[in-house]
Amino acid sequence: MALREIFKFGDDILRKKCREVTKFDDKLAELLDDMADTLKNADGVGLAAPQVGILRRVCIIDVRDGKGVLELINPEILEKSGSQTGNEGCLSAPGEWCEVVRPATVKVRAFDRHGKEFTLEASELKARAICHEVDHLDGVLFIDRVEKTIPQKS
Ligand code: CO
Repeated sequence: MALREIFKFGDDILRKKCREVTKFDDKLAELLDDMADTLKNADGVGLAAPQVGILRRVCIIDVRDGKGVLELINPEILEKSGSQTGNEGCLSAPGEWCEVVRPATVKVRAFDRHGKEFTLEASELKARAICHEVDHLDGVLFIDRVEKTIPQKS
């Protein structure tokens, strides 16, 4: 088990655009395994490579639906439909929760760790998590998607 450090909001690395994965090698497998350990240890739903300091288009999602960890490499959201509103957080912003509107369902195309392409349809929490993690790969954070913020007393 290898845990990686999770970078927090305010770190420039979270604002960078990630490059595509071109080599589906042992290094990628190691990154995915470490990310899965890190996600589980942090009790999170999703984690993107830039959150552990790697500027590659890799993210993982675990919504505890009995299907294990979903690994998305070079993911592309092909279709979005409907909308859902819910509270969202991020392992890079512990304790911070905001209401974010996301598509109700998404269709995503990605590659697995062996370089095999697949498409997947997701709804509810899984759709939300996919959108959140794919955003990370473009340097977009959930706080950028908040339409309404509740004024805080200073
Ligand atoms: Co996040």
